[in-house]
Amino acid sequence: MKNLALLLILFTAIGCSAQTTISDLNNFEKQSWQDLNENVIKMIGKDWMLIAAGNLEDYNMMTASWGTLGWLWEKPVSTIYVRPQRHTHTYTESEEYYSICFFNDPDKEVLRLMGTVSGRDFDKMNYEKLSPIETPNGSIAFKEAYIVIECKKLYSMAFKEDEFTNTNTMNNIYPKKDFHTAYIGEIVGVWRKK
Ligand SMILES: Cc1cc2nc3c(=O)[nH]c(=O)nc-3n(C[C@H](O)[C@H](O)[C@H](O)COP(=O)(O)O)c2cc1C
Repeated sequence: MKNLALLLILFTAIGCSAQTTISDLNNFEKQSWQDLNENVIKMIGKDWMLIAAGNLEDYNMMTASWGTLGWLWEKPVSTIYVRPQRHTHTYTESEEYYSICFFNDPDKEVLRLMGTVSGRDFDKMNYEKLSPIETPNGSIAFKEAYIVIECKKLYSMAFKEDEFTNTNTMNNIYPKKDFHTAYIGEIVGVWRKK
């Protein structure tokens, strides 16, 4: 009887934790890159985005304001820039996909937090203001976003000191020589909040 009660508690606990994860994109409308008609320079540079990589069991995300959306190798692409010391870097290195998520203005506080704490010191996966959604390719986006873009990595490269044509930029941005890794990813999915 005692064992049965314990089993019941265990199943209830598993059931409850499964409900806290939203594993679909039902609140979003699937779109194409052609439907992205906003000012993407503002969207990335001024409104900021979250870069996420990993899977529902193990992922990390961070705020980014450096990135591009464009066209390369006959594909729609994003480029993101992640410094090697970021916890997210571990995931962008190992994962095949990453997502970039855009939020409305009231979520700026959330982005500010995700841009100042590291997943190494803060339990980002259990942060109550960001609910993970699984993308079709098994990577991570967030229910609170209004646009989700899923990307498949095509290329990565670390910036190199002797390739800078403007040393002022290099000295200003990289006094510690912690050069970003740039990832170019094919845009394989675009979703917009309904
Ligand atoms: C507005 C803003 C923009 C940022 N943009 C970038 C960026 O483009 N690339 C980067 O490596 N870090 C960027 N950061 C810093 C990371 O978001 C920050 O170091 C974060 O805490 C890393 O988290 P992690 O260690 O969990 O990956 C930005 C931070 C803020 C607040």
